[in-house]
Amino acid sequence: MTSQPVSVQITDGVAHVRMDNPPVNALGLALREALMDALAELEHNDDVMSVLLIGQPKAFSAGADITEFGTGTSSPTLPELVARVEDFPKPVVAAITGVALGGGLELAMAAHARVALTTAKLGLPEISLGLLPGAGGTGRLPRLVGPEKALELILGGKQIPAEAALQDGLVDAVLDGGSDAGSADSDGGSGFETEAARWTAEFAASGGPMRTQDRTDKIADAAAKPGTVVELAATALRKVKDPFAGKAAVEAVTAGVEKSFERGAVVERAKFQERLKSSESAAQRYLFAAERAARKPRNLDPAAARDVKQAGVVGAGTMGGGIAMALVSAGIPVTVVEAQQEALERGLGMIEKNLAVSVSHGNRTEKQAAQQRALITGTMDYADLSDADLVIEAAFEDLQVKKEIFAKLDQHVKPQAVLATNTSYLDIDEIASGTEHADRVLGMHFFSPANVMPLVEVVRGAQTSPEALATGFATARRIGKTPVVVGVCHGFVGNRMLGVRSRQAEQLLLEGALPSQVDDVLTEFGFRMGPFAMADMAGLDIGWRNRKAQGTTAPIGDALCVEGRFGQKTGAGYYSYEGRDRQNDPEVEEIIERVSAEHNMTRRGISDDEILERLLFPMINEGARILEEKIADRASDIDVIWVKGYNWPAYRGGPMWYADQVGAAVVAERLTHYAEATGDESLRPASALQRAADVGGSLTGASSS
Ligand code: CAA
Repeated sequence: MTSQPVSVQITDGVAHVRMDNPPVNALGLALREALMDALAELEHNDDVMSVLLIGQPKAFSAGADITEFGTGTSSPTLPELVARVEDFPKPVVAAITGVALGGGLELAMAAHARVALTTAKLGLPEISLGLLPGAGGTGRLPRLVGPEKALELILGGKQIPAEAALQDGLVDAVLDGGSDAGSADSDGGSGFETEAARWTAEFAASGGPMRTQDRTDKIADAAAKPGTVVELAATALRKVKDPFAGKAAVEAVTAGVEKSFERGAVVERAKFQERLKSSESAAQRYLFAAERAARKPRNLDPAAARDVKQAGVVGAGTMGGGIAMALVSAGIPVTVVEAQQEALERGLGMIEKNLAVSVSHGNRTEKQAAQQRALITGTMDYADLSDADLVIEAAFEDLQVKKEIFAKLDQHVKPQAVLATNTSYLDIDEIASGTEHADRVLGMHFFSPANVMPLVEVVRGAQTSPEALATGFATARRIGKTPVVVGVCHGFVGNRMLGVRSRQAEQLLLEGALPSQVDDVLTEFGFRMGPFAMADMAGLDIGWRNRKAQGTTAPIGDALCVEGRFGQKTGAGYYSYEGRDRQNDPEVEEIIERVSAEHNMTRRGISDDEILERLLFPMINEGARILEEKIADRASDIDVIWVKGYNWPAYRGGPMWYADQVGAAVVAERLTHYAEATGDESLRPASALQRAADVGGSLTGASSS
């Protein structure tokens, strides 16, 4: 019996119900209907003793169909399907290959038992979409793994490997499935499926099904002591990416643990619907699509990418070390070049230390760290890069230094090697001009710490070849980063927009604000840190040096540097510090007032609303210019850059999405107002913004439903 997208095959009393809805078995209406139909037939089939619910090698199921969210969900809904599975009169076992995520895991949790392939990953990533699990997950997960683990999974949104799921009680067995694990064999099954079927038959023979919702052992303590769930959630809630969805999830878990499964389900459903309609979830669903769009840059042929078997990194400083760590963590051997033995040893020592820290945090096993360590070689000889397929230069941010390095690289690497610079601001074309093969040069702008931060701006130079661009892009993907293709300009997309914001922040101090007021407005908006706290962390001397090199000034930033206030590292910057604890400093206030007076400014009280507009609207304006100049392919690429590289709160979608929510007309009108009030002509709306304002149009072209 077959019915797309579900096929059923009955072998030795076990009905193999296979979901086949590419690419990721999203539980859209057609799949839900087909599963309901299959269950209806199997219920009354006397040949069937038990049911094995299985997906495809890549995915058991990635959950609810995200594309259905805007349109409303028709019956059978996912909660209806999940209830049908749990109440099915014959034992149902979920056999998990690939991923079981969101509604996919909720479906599996409603089965009477779960087995997973060794390589499977499980998780509830709804929080990343501004949602909470909506098909019983907030009730069933605590019953399987206890409230603490459940909250960790629901609020963190992370995927866990099968083995950890077994330890936690989320799955009942991990099967390795032999050599053909997960892949289909001649009769459409697999070694894993055969083992899972055997397991299912034994499970069915050993007793009747137990509904997950009826289990109480793991929640008994928390149920007996109201307030436990809220207490357990406190730490995770402070770090949660979407505090609104986080709070809603905690309410649902609390009701499910402290009252009853049914009561929890009612709260869960109501909160899920509320979050689904929220602007925060709309923003994050937009970002989900934006990230996937950024993976398909215009005019980039993925097939042109060269295989990178060996990489090189020039510079063993913080960035070079981080990039080397990112490369080896994906199994790519790296040769690190430094000019001086001492710098090389210091750099390799730092990598060593970071690997040890990562082991102590549980992010790598000792074995993985040892394997990765073995892939790193240090040298002072450029000739050792002769095997490299890709070299990433991460030396001092100085055009002349970089040009010399590229000229040297050009002589030592093989002709087809791709050369990338990790510059944050400099002109890639100028760097490439120092080589004989400018076509193999591109930018790969990583963010610090490079082994942690996901964003890489992949910069297409005027002469960058399709092969070089595709190789840089593919390598960034391979090492688990989020690459976004951008064009050449000062600071590319992210730093160019950041520069505009920094200028406004400085100007606000001159006009009457204090650092803490400006920073608080941005943290209230959702950033983890405001511009001044961030500058103190990065070190004020870096910006000072850059300004001096470019002949520009930031009167207050410069005045602080003159006083030796370089930020956290000197214990004083825009704030004073005891360790990392920042304090407002009256001395800073005096410096600000003095510099204001020197600039003939009459200080005034500035409202939080004005601060927010003055910081964000000029960035949006710069984003519009970036689009006009075709430095970014799409507005959504700019948003991905800001969310992944600069901690723009995901639930606010990114600057261009935010502009659409405020309305282009409002943004343009306020910018015109500030241009006139401050005399700063750069604040005049860019033509792309003004056009959108005039026609009531959108910058992202995305709808917020
Ligand atoms: N619904 C609809 N489409 C989905 C989807 C989903 N849940 N998950 C992935 N897709 C689509 C992607 O948009 C992509 O489409 P395009 O090829 O058109 O770009 C395609 O499937 C492949 O996805 P990826 O490019 O992301 O492939 P990947 O191999 O890098 O990652 C994945 C696969 C890990 C499953 C990843 O896609 C993912 O994390 N998906 C989202 C999972 C998720 O958030 N699930 C929760 C849904 S909400 C829910 O379930 C609510 C509830 O409780 C009722």
